[in-house]
Amino acid sequence: MQKPTGSPVPVSEGLEGVVVSESRICFVDGIEGRLLYQGYDIHDLAQRATFEEVAYLLWHGDLPTRAQLDQLNRDLVRARALPEPVLRALDWLPHDALPMDVLRTVVSALGLYDPDARDNSTAATVRKSVRLTAQIGTIVAAIGRIRAGQAPVAPDPQLSHAANFLYMLWGKRADPESVRAVDIALVLHADHELNASTFSARVTAATLADIYSAITSAIGTLKGPLHGGANESVMRLLLEIGQPAKVLPAIAAMLSAKKKIPGFGHRVYRTEDPRATHLRRMSETLGRQHGQPQWYEMSREIEQYMLREKRIYANVDFYSASTYYALGIPIDLFTPVFAVSRISGWTAHVLEQYADNRLIRPRAEYVGPRNRAFVPIEQRG
Ligand SMILES: CC(C)(COP(=O)(O)OP(=O)(O)OC[C@H]1O[C@@H](n2cnc3c(N)ncnc32)[C@H](O)[C@@H]1OP(=O)(O)O)[C@@H](O)C(=O)NCCC(=O)NCCS
Repeated sequence: MQKPTGSPVPVSEGLEGVVVSESRICFVDGIEGRLLYQGYDIHDLAQRATFEEVAYLLWHGDLPTRAQLDQLNRDLVRARALPEPVLRALDWLPHDALPMDVLRTVVSALGLYDPDARDNSTAATVRKSVRLTAQIGTIVAAIGRIRAGQAPVAPDPQLSHAANFLYMLWGKRADPESVRAVDIALVLHADHELNASTFSARVTAATLADIYSAITSAIGTLKGPLHGGANESVMRLLLEIGQPAKVLPAIAAMLSAKKKIPGFGHRVYRTEDPRATHLRRMSETLGRQHGQPQWYEMSREIEQYMLREKRIYANVDFYSASTYYALGIPIDLFTPVFAVSRISGWTAHVLEQYADNRLIRPRAEYVGPRNRAFVPIEQRG
């Protein structure tokens, strides 16, 4: 942080190290490599909780009782179907548009059909959080189907969130291992404190705009390759490299050309990202099960090289790429799948923002010219 001339506070490029609010939702310890949701360790949640339990935890602060979970499941199931005009819009938008662009557009449109859209009370915001969480899964699966030239599949009320997502994407019920893998991935991606997209959601909510506006901001922010878009870039890089023997020269060439390696580095972690620990294991197991171990093996080589040469660790996006690929999820749905999970965290943060709101409005250090004389247009050359 450098102290600029004429400004009472230091400039922090990229807001690094700046604490903008208190929060009870998520704790990230980048030195010890710890991640807690509402006080619960991510390792316990990944091994023992479902995505539905985690969503409840993020919104309400405690894990649900059986009765509370049953009620949430009923609410999610009831909310899964999309309003008819939104379903039609999905078909009407260009079929070759980027899935993240379609998701952003359609989530914005969802707000037009929500009877609670203009009600920012806690009760209405919880209802909308449930609806958004249910419907983003339906939208992403429908985008996947439409892009593949297939009709969207109606949700199955008998299935869990993860199982129903795969069912709507594939048009048939998924095996239990794939369902559990997706469920764990959804738990791992559910929240991560003030990451860029969550911050966007909170900035929008802090103006007291509605939650659909906040989530639309978040989706636009998640798309970028420095944030959620990195999982797609990782898989494209692995495919481009193509075989294990080419890994080290390719990565060395990228580093000497000062290119960033997607899936590495983090603003907060200076050690292993605890989410990567689970995703690495899943990438290995699923890669073997699906007869394509090479993507895990290449990833492992890249990881060891990055640690050896740069002391930079893999982040959540690195092994989620080969995990999703082994599951047969199309590459340009990887970032939308991130949103299928992160919607739970975004909405939890919008709830927290509304509950104790103050407009988020930082300052910029002005470094441009001052006192320029106005020149009439005829005299400008
Ligand atoms: C995540 C990320 C945006 C964090 O950015 P940041 O906190 O602003 O960190 P910086 O980009 O300033 O990086 C700090 C140093 O590490 C290096 N570095 C960081 N990530 C790197 C990567 N993925 N590959 C190679 N070098 C990297 C930078 O080159 C820089 O080195 P320098 O000090 O010698 O110039 C950055 O690590 C990145 O671009 N990673 C790749 C994209 C990605 O995986 N995003 C998903 C994040 S979960």
